[in-house]
Amino acid sequence: MTSGVLSLKCETSIPLQKIRCELSTSWLANISAKHVFSALCQALVGLFMRAQESIRRKRSQNPIIVHNRGSCSMSLQVWLITGASSGFGLCMTRHVLSKGDIAVATLRQPSALDSLKAQYPESQLLILKLDVTIPSDITAAFASAKERFGRVDVVFNNAGLGVVGETEATPENVARDLFDVNFWGADRINREAVRFFREENEPRKGGRIIVNSSYVGIGTIPGIAYYSAAKHALEGVTKCLKAELDPEWNIKITLVEAGFFNTNLGRDKVILHPVHPAYESVAKTTKDREYLASVILNGDSAEKGVAKMYDLSLLENPPLHLPLGKDVLVGFKAFAEELTEVVHTYATWSDNLGNDSDST
Ligand SMILES: NC(=O)c1ccc[n+]([C@@H]2O[C@H](COP(=O)([O-])OP(=O)(O)OC[C@H]3O[C@@H](n4cnc5c(N)ncnc54)[C@H](OP(=O)(O)O)[C@@H]3O)[C@@H](O)[C@H]2O)c1
Repeated sequence: MTSGVLSLKCETSIPLQKIRCELSTSWLANISAKHVFSALCQALVGLFMRAQESIRRKRSQNPIIVHNRGSCSMSLQVWLITGASSGFGLCMTRHVLSKGDIAVATLRQPSALDSLKAQYPESQLLILKLDVTIPSDITAAFASAKERFGRVDVVFNNAGLGVVGETEATPENVARDLFDVNFWGADRINREAVRFFREENEPRKGGRIIVNSSYVGIGTIPGIAYYSAAKHALEGVTKCLKAELDPEWNIKITLVEAGFFNTNLGRDKVILHPVHPAYESVAKTTKDREYLASVILNGDSAEKGVAKMYDLSLLENPPLHLPLGKDVLVGFKAFAEELTEVVHTYATWSDNLGNDSDST
């Protein structure tokens, strides 16, 4: 018996775009238009159900699952943001508010956000004074967030400053002051966020920390040694902290390693030291200084950067690292290749060293 094939084309990107109804030609010859219409309807219902099943299967297989927040107000997230006066912190505050979420915007001079305060109700925006070098500011800000909103879901650990100058040109007290903000300040925020998520939020509700590290938390750029060192240290302590957490606490942490973005870091917020006399003739140093000044100002917009960082908060399983920017991808790839090459080249130096059972 030969068979006729009826194909229905569906204009969606879903697989299973075609459904085939195999109809025997003898049967086809005997049926009325009403039967054909009925068969078509059944085929369409089948197509719809199979497409739904396909979407359901795909979602359950995809490791990157984005929460569907729906329209329920309970699913809005409470963000606590440090360094909200400018750059990434200000952009993230605006972005969070534009998404309808709740922002606890913290900064050293709260009056800097007076115009934003006038635009949003108290139920959506709380502005607090927080200097990350003052521990009592940190605990007070988290306590105020709990008092107003009952919880904190996401902490954007962002506050930081820049210092430019050859390593030998940077006075130790300046380097220490930078560490006080970029390392110790950020570490204090991490620790209070973890404690808060575990002990102040509902049990096992947990929370997320998005740490604004940097490309130089892993990579290297001459001329910003102590900025880079503080970010390296922040990466180290954050990775250990994450490894120590009990999964039951449901706390997720991501280090964002951003490239150059146009913020105040490239303007008035950077401490620039005169070139060390011994380096005057090193053309590279001068070039690096010019490069650093121009790349931040010519960097991509901070709005675009925070949009990606915000999306991290919607991922079921956010990554530990998020390199952000094409320049960062190139740099990290080169760094990984260099490391891999050295591991291979000098592998024999480790013969008979270390614990064999741990080596793979
Ligand atoms: N721009 C880039 O290309 C880039 C790339 C990678 C990573 N980052 C990181 O992004 C973060 C934000 O910097 P940004 O680029 O947005 O520069 P920014 O516009 O200069 O913002 C820095 C923010 O940190 C705040 N801050 C400084 N010291 C503080 C302290 N002791 N306590 C609390 N807040 C303090 C500043 O507040 P005040 O107004 O009170 O000074 C400001 O709000 C930094 O951690 C930076 O390392 C930037």
